[in-house]
Amino acid sequence: MSHVAKRSSPPAPVPADWTYASAPESREIVSLRERYGLFVGGEWVAARSGESFTTISPRDEEPLAEVAQAGAEDVVAATAAAREAFEPWAALPGSERAKYMFRIARILQERSREFAVLESLNGGKPIKESRDVDLPLAAAHFFYYAGWADKLEYAFPNRTARPLGVAGQIIPWNFPLLMLAWKIAPALAGGNTVVLKPAETTPLTALLFCDVLRQAELPPGVVNIVTGDGATGAALVDADVDKIAFTGSTEVGKAIQRRLAGTGKKLTLELGGKAANIVFDDAALDQAVEGIVNGIYFNQGHVCCAGSRLFVQESIAEPLVDKLKRRMATLRVGDPLDKNTDVGAINSKLQLEKIEELVAAGRDEGAEIYQPPCRLPERGYWFAPTVFTNVAQSYRIAQEEIFGPVLSVLTFRTPDEAVEKANNTPYGLSAGVWTEKGSRILWMAERLRAGVVWANTYNRFDPASPFGGYKESGFGREGGRHGLEPYLSFEE
Ligand code: NAI
Ligand code: MG
Repeated sequence: MSHVAKRSSPPAPVPADWTYASAPESREIVSLRERYGLFVGGEWVAARSGESFTTISPRDEEPLAEVAQAGAEDVVAATAAAREAFEPWAALPGSERAKYMFRIARILQERSREFAVLESLNGGKPIKESRDVDLPLAAAHFFYYAGWADKLEYAFPNRTARPLGVAGQIIPWNFPLLMLAWKIAPALAGGNTVVLKPAETTPLTALLFCDVLRQAELPPGVVNIVTGDGATGAALVDADVDKIAFTGSTEVGKAIQRRLAGTGKKLTLELGGKAANIVFDDAALDQAVEGIVNGIYFNQGHVCCAGSRLFVQESIAEPLVDKLKRRMATLRVGDPLDKNTDVGAINSKLQLEKIEELVAAGRDEGAEIYQPPCRLPERGYWFAPTVFTNVAQSYRIAQEEIFGPVLSVLTFRTPDEAVEKANNTPYGLSAGVWTEKGSRILWMAERLRAGVVWANTYNRFDPASPFGGYKESGFGREGGRHGLEPYLSFEE
């Protein structure tokens, strides 16, 4: 008989606090270079000016890497590389282009943890979101558009689809890798080549993506990545490109549109929003509360389609807001790399200041503020989940995009009034409707001037579903077959 080994380790200690134990994700999986160049023609090259900037982590302002600031000459070199790569790429059979895209999708899945950690580190979003939303969706976009690459003639019956040429793509910092996928996947499926500029606060996952391109053996020059700020973006708009796809602020979108007028370059704009999330008195309230929380506190509210205006039918306003406040008190704000975190760091100092300014305006104008008690870390950029009640339509917090974890609650009595108030905004990107009644959902969806209307859910994304806005939220659609069209020409 052998002896049964006795367990020698001391018993685990009793937790000091039963409510919460942190579950940090290791960042070991990410290895960063000290300094990054530009990815042009399949090679890393230095910016001609030699200029660079430091990219940090918003959770503690830790410097992560030096990133090149591309000037106009560097952008010209990148568009030239894309131009040179265009004909052979466009001439490949669609199934060949698809092969590379399927590879990219599979590599993103394989390296998903690495990308998720880096996305949270550089951008501040909770790891559970980058892991469960950004990464799976980014891969899904490449899979989805890979499927269209060899089916373009069926996608547009009786029309001959041709690629446009070189696409210049400028993306924001709220979904860095996902916006890259939204932009690059349909462009490649259509046979175009690309120069993409990530946002200045979040360049790292786009730079890591260059390594995926190498692994996938994508022909050099088909995708080029240039880093830098708004000046780099402006240089890309002016460079030798056939199309600009932009996601970002309405202000910059308008400037780009003016710049491109008369040039013949194609343009799609995905800009801001001030979405109405509308709850009727017959809605399932607990479910609606989850949708409201997801609508505004997901990704710290740095979401163009965030449900930032909550319209509640007057008869249920009180119980709904009570439930909402109780739910808000359970949100965990803190380290983006903690798997338990619900609300991470604000992306940048500038964005934090914008949120603070608008919240101060809300107080001054007379709205009532509620923030659940939460201890915010000392270093880094943080803002507690916030809800304003007693809000009038005319207040800045009801009109302007805050792009932070700040919700404005307004009320209505009738469906007509809900529609009128919801549409009373310069934006028109998305909306939410909560009601048990199917006919009312359809009635509302017909009248809401928003590109996407979610019913009894919020922030649902699928590569097969087109996304985009009306009015000052921009034009053009991304996702689905619709998302291919802006990358194709149908002229004979
Ligand atoms: P932004 O529009 O300045 O930046 C977005 C991208 O455009 C970045 O890559 C930036 O470098 C580039 N860019 C800036 N100026 C440019 C120019 N003149 N020409 C070409 N490209 C240019 O947005 P920003 O300053 O980061 O955020 C300001 C506000 O915009 C936010 O508070 C939010 O309200 C809104 N926003 C909306 C987004 C959306 O998803 N629709 C995304 C980011 C910001
Ligand atoms: Mg800006």
